[in-house]
Amino acid sequence: MSTQDLGVAAVLVGLGGWLPPRTVDNHELSRRLDTSDEWIRTRTGIASRHVVDPDLSTVDMAVEAGARALRSAAATGGSGPGDGADGAAGEAVDAVVLATATPDHPCPASAPQVASRLGLGGAAAFDVNAVCSGFVYALATATGLIAAGAARRVLLVGADAFTTLLDPADRGTVPIFGDGAGAMVLRAGTAGEPGAVGPFDLHSDGELADLLIVPAGGTRCPTSDDPRDRYFSMQGPAVFRHATARMAESSRAVLDRAGWTPGDVDRFVGHQANLRILQTTAKSLGLPADCLVTNIEHTGNTSAASIPLAMADAVADGTLCAGDRVLMTAFGAGLTWGSALLRWPRLTLAE
Ligand code: UT7
Repeated sequence: MSTQDLGVAAVLVGLGGWLPPRTVDNHELSRRLDTSDEWIRTRTGIASRHVVDPDLSTVDMAVEAGARALRSAAATGGSGPGDGADGAAGEAVDAVVLATATPDHPCPASAPQVASRLGLGGAAAFDVNAVCSGFVYALATATGLIAAGAARRVLLVGADAFTTLLDPADRGTVPIFGDGAGAMVLRAGTAGEPGAVGPFDLHSDGELADLLIVPAGGTRCPTSDDPRDRYFSMQGPAVFRHATARMAESSRAVLDRAGWTPGDVDRFVGHQANLRILQTTAKSLGLPADCLVTNIEHTGNTSAASIPLAMADAVADGTLCAGDRVLMTAFGAGLTWGSALLRWPRLTLAE
């Protein structure tokens, strides 16, 4: 039986994003790599990205984005169970789910530190690693916690410091990725109300794990004499083909599940991996160009953070409005991919 059949749903009530202060534009990259602003813009749609300095970690970014989402939930107000009369939404959070492939440490998970630093110590807290699909996977996980009655209010954060995994000399990856965090607050509600998330469509293919991989540092290969094995490697063109095909396939599946057609979609918020991937996927779904939500030009690919960051920017500039029917889709290392729908609620952002 699905969440929708039960009538229990996770409902979006708060949203926030945070980017590290340091920006690196294409011109700066082209001074140290064999690349150009023109190549990066044309092939990816990226002009600049935000990058962590050594004193900033994934947990630090997750705390900033999480705090903004909690303040957004408080500002959005008491629209459902768990909202305190004083708007102190943070006090009622009983689970923190962190989507990340770049935790502060290999062990333990980073979510408990995020929870404690936000004053949510005692809440359930754990990480979900589905790399660039992490946010959609963690959204499904948070929805499951709510549907199971294990939580009434969940803070969901997608945060990655992906630039820390990159070989600084690799022009195939350095121009693509940036760092950042995005977060949502979800509360228990009913499937028909604005902000209710679902249905979902999730998949994986571990046989293609080598297409995007950090070869060393795990139990298969704890250390390596080749320093390149510590870095993220990506077979870009093959990944491009899989990303466009899988995101379109999964989008169609989730639309079918909801009884929607592509014509019902007002906003398409795909994982911000490459503007051409987003455009190709939107086109193959038959979505009009103006329904594409993108902020990749100034963020690059922020992995698990990209969808909530794009949403926060779109709310801020008025592109994403209450009542909009939203299609989310993502693809990443694993391979993993998945999609979800929601009807956008009335939402107030907060600094
Ligand atoms: O988040 C999910 C995971 N990641 C992705 O979804 C990324 C998927 N892949 C991509 O976005 C694209 O494949 C890239 C942006 C990584 C690469 O773009 P592409 O259009 O697939 O380029 P390519 O690798 O096929 O290379 C085309 C040409 C080659 O030169 P020749 O052989 O045609 O002379 C490359 O050597 O561009 C060259 N090239 C570059 N030139 C300047 C590759 N990287 C660069 C670069 N600057 N940074």
